[in-house]
Formats: sequence, structure tokens, C-alpha cells
Amino acid sequence: MKRGFVILGGILLAFSIALFGFRYFGTHKFNGYILPEPVKAPETMLRSVNGPVRISDFKGKIVLLYFGYTYCPDVCPTSLANIKLAMGELTPEEAAQVQVIFVSVDPARDTPETLSRYVRMFRDDFIGATGTREEIDWMVNTFGAKYTIEPPDENGNYNVSHSAFTMVLDRDGYYVMNWEHGTPSTNMSADLRYLIAHDILISAQILAGATYTPVVCAVTLVPAHVQSGQWLYEHHCAQCHGLDMAGNPQYQVELADGSRLAPPLNGQGDAWTYPQTELLTIIKEGRNLDKPIHMPAFKSKLADWEIEFILSYVQTTWDVNQLNYQHGFMTLTPQATLATATPLAPLVTSTPSP
Ligand code: HEC
Repeated sequence: MKRGFVILGGILLAFSIALFGFRYFGTHKFNGYILPEPVKAPETMLRSVNGPVRISDFKGKIVLLYFGYTYCPDVCPTSLANIKLAMGELTPEEAAQVQVIFVSVDPARDTPETLSRYVRMFRDDFIGATGTREEIDWMVNTFGAKYTIEPPDENGNYNVSHSAFTMVLDRDGYYVMNWEHGTPSTNMSADLRYLIAHDILISAQILAGATYTPVVCAVTLVPAHVQSGQWLYEHHCAQCHGLDMAGNPQYQVELADGSRLAPPLNGQGDAWTYPQTELLTIIKEGRNLDKPIHMPAFKSKLADWEIEFILSYVQTTWDVNQLNYQHGFMTLTPQATLATATPLAPLVTSTPSP
């Protein structure tokens, strides 16, 4: 008998260590700034010494993008040297999954040939590319970066101030994160290693948004649950929340005694702004029970699984963003147009070249 307890205790302990360990080691704190809303790379066609270059050519790889210029006296070489170090800290197999692209914002002086020579001083597999002024501006603006060509000196030499962060694009060509200038190579390689193994799952969620492929990424609504849920809803909830889940039209008006009429549950009201667990609690425990009009407690009438079935039914009327939000995924605002990231790091002005 006692032995049974010891074994059971051992199993429980091992299980909790495994769970804790997973939670502890399963998370990675990125060393860069993660964009709240990833930005899809534009289809701009740039030119390199080996022909045209588009971000989408590297689908399946993580792309590190850097805007600079070869006359850049200090900022670009430091950044590229750091990226080279970070790439060196990866195994060759990992490094093969990352493509570094240096885009010149100074096409007047940087040709594909000079760019190629320049980036190869750092690493053989770096790509240097540029385009027309319009193409570059389009790309820079889409990514929320910046650059300014400074006035020339008496010899016609000029500097270019530019955003000095390194942009990280995921395997689907979404700009998801950036490292500010001066991020240590070990921090970059740690992030890269994690990205190679796990990705930032944001692009999958964005793809689930209204303007893209409508896939539910967080929740699967089981048809059998939905069907039972509908029956349960009609018998336990519909009399107050409406057969169509639209609630009472006056639900937003707080009554004199502080109570509220039943709100919609069809995703149009605010029920979906609670996480799933909290929603379950509201339904089990009720709300404002001391008020004449209130949400009754269902814990003695319905089993948890029955409430979950009801929620499955209710959720068939919700859009994917609400479902994702509810299940602890990021909130997304469906967008008709692609978002432009807000500029993040301040412009770094290079010291004048000799
Ligand atoms: C007797 C009427 C009544 C019944 C039956 C009823 N509710 Fe409610 N429900 C309310 C009222 C009233 C509120 C608003 C309470 C408040 O905010 O104080 C409410 C609130 C809620 C909320 C919180 C929504 C929000 O946005 O704050 C949820 C979720 C909910 N009800 C789900 C259900 C479900 C599921 C059922 C069926 C199992 C159900 N209710 C049955 C009256 C009812």
C-alpha cells in the first residue's frame, strides 16, 4: 500500500518536473523587438551581381535584411561584422537556413558589382543588392525604416543617415523582429537558433486573419460538440441571450440598480473579450447574483463539459480573431491593406567619411 503511494508520488514528481521543465525551457526571450503586427515583404525586384533578387526568392529561409551603403564609414561595417559573427556561431546546417541581404540605399554610388565585393569581405554567402530610388523607397517605407541623403561637402562626398537595425524576416517573408544596432552576436545567434527550430508563430496567425486564408489556428470546433451545445444553449441560455445569441438590445445600458441585461454571445458584444477559462467561471459562478437581473450560476445545473459544448456552439458564430484572442493568442485587427511598421530605432548618423 505504502509502496504504491511512493511510486505514485514518484510518477507525479517526474510529471511535474517534466511540465515545469517544459515551461521553463520551452520559452525563449527574444533579444530583438518583436513587431506587434508582422509586415509582409514587398515584391520589389532588386538587382545583385547574380541577377534579380526578391525577398520571396528565399521563402523557407530566415532572411536578415539590412539597409546601408558601402561608403558607410562605421555603422554598416560594425553591423555586418556582428551578423557575420552570429552566423559563425551557428552550425553550418543552421547557417544554411539563413540568408543575409544587404540593401544599398545609395544606388548612385553602389553598383551591384561594388556591393558584391563589399559584402563578400564579410561572408561569401551574403547578398548585396540595390534598385532604383523608387524601388528602394518603396521597400524602406514598407518596412518602416528610414534614410536621408545628407548634403555633399565641397568635394561632392556625402553621407547617408539610415536606420541601423537588422530586420529579421521569417520563412514566409514576414518582417517579424529587428535587432537594434549593437546587439551582441551571441544574442542574435541565440534568437536565430530558436527561430530555426520553432519560428515566431505570428505569420501563421496573420495568415489566419480576415484578409488572408481563413484558417482557424487556435481552436477546433468539434461538430458533435457544437450540435449538443446548440441543444443545451436553446434549453438553458436562449431565454435571456436570445435564440440568435443577439442578447437584449438594451444590454449596454446599466440599470438603476447597477444590473445589466443579457449581452449578445454571438461575438458582436463583449463576451469574447474574456479568456476561455474566465468565461467558464462566469457561466459556472454567475454574475451580479445579488441583483434582480443577473447571470445565474450554472455549476449545479450543467457539467463543465456541457458548458464547454455550449461555448463550442456559441463560438461557431465568432470570427477567427476573436477565437484566437480568447485562447490566449495575439489579437489581430483584420486589415484591408498591409501595415507599415512604425519606425523603431532612431536614425544613426554616420561620422563623416575621411
Ligand atoms: C436568466 C437569464 C439568463 C440566463 C438563463 C443566462 N444568462 Fe448569461 N447573462 C445574463 C445576464 C443578465 C448577464 C449580464 C450580467 C452582468 O453583466 O451583470 C449575463 C452575462 C453572461 C455572460 C458574460 C458576457 C459579458 O460580456 O459580460 C456570459 C458569457 C453568459 N451570460 C453566458 C451564458 C450562458 C452560456 C448561458 C446558458 C448556459 C447563460 N448565460 C444563461 C442572463 C442570463
